[in-house]
Amino acid sequence: MLGGLFSCRVIAFEAREPIGPETLRAEEARYVRRAVAKRAGEFAAGRACARRALAELAIADFPLRVGADREPLWPEGITGSITHTAGFCGVVVARTTEAASLGVDAERRGAVHRRLWRQIATPPEIQWLGTLPAARAADMATLLFSAKEAFFKCQFPLTREWLNFSDVSVSVESGALRIAPARPLALQALTPAPWAGRYALRGALVVAGFGLPPR
Ligand SMILES: CC(C)(COP(=O)(O)OP(=O)(O)OC[C@H]1O[C@@H](n2cnc3c(N)ncnc32)[C@H](O)[C@@H]1OP(=O)(O)O)[C@@H](O)C(=O)NCCC(=O)NCCS
Repeated sequence: MLGGLFSCRVIAFEAREPIGPETLRAEEARYVRRAVAKRAGEFAAGRACARRALAELAIADFPLRVGADREPLWPEGITGSITHTAGFCGVVVARTTEAASLGVDAERRGAVHRRLWRQIATPPEIQWLGTLPAARAADMATLLFSAKEAFFKCQFPLTREWLNFSDVSVSVESGALRIAPARPLALQALTPAPWAGRYALRGALVVAGFGLPPR
């Protein structure tokens, strides 16, 4: 499902069953030693999917460490992104000759309740949501959230810039996403806006992905 969100060549792995923290390497386990079981489980699922994905690129035995801002520290020449939500974990990776950075996000459909709209959407986005039938609005509000999270994860390793949900606006067109800046963003110095992504509504999930062209 996640591989189809990218126009460049990516390797994607998904897990829908729990994966225990006993699968973590020692260098990874230290990040969740004091975490509650749910967090340790989702972290382990992400690392397990990443290990499988990296193996497809002939990279074995690579401990996927955590950066100062929670970002995964991929091997030299590789970029990638991790997401987890209830009952699902997904990872995408690519060579940096294919993409400068990737961002992926998955959410449960309807996860963003109407009372959260003002926290995650701009006034024009809220106006758009208000024109939609209730079930569609619930999906699209979740998609706006997911698109912004995926975009954030994609741009952060390149810029190290923190973004608020009001800093970008998302437009949605049958399967395609477009992110436009609502204020000057560091990413504009690296690659021109708007930034294109893709999404899918599959079963109980909303998934969104962004990939930036290689530098
Ligand atoms: C980082 C963030 C996007 C992750 O969201 P989340 O709700 O925890 O959701 P997910 O499960 O989908 O993603 C978690 C994964 O994101 C990755 N991640 C975390 N911080 C990251 C960062 N700074 N850059 C890139 N990836 C990051 C990690 O791999 C993490 O999984 P792991 O800790 O198991 O390795 C979110 O916590 C956050 O801080 N957002 C900042 C505000 C924001 O999104 N603004 C959007 C405005 S455009």
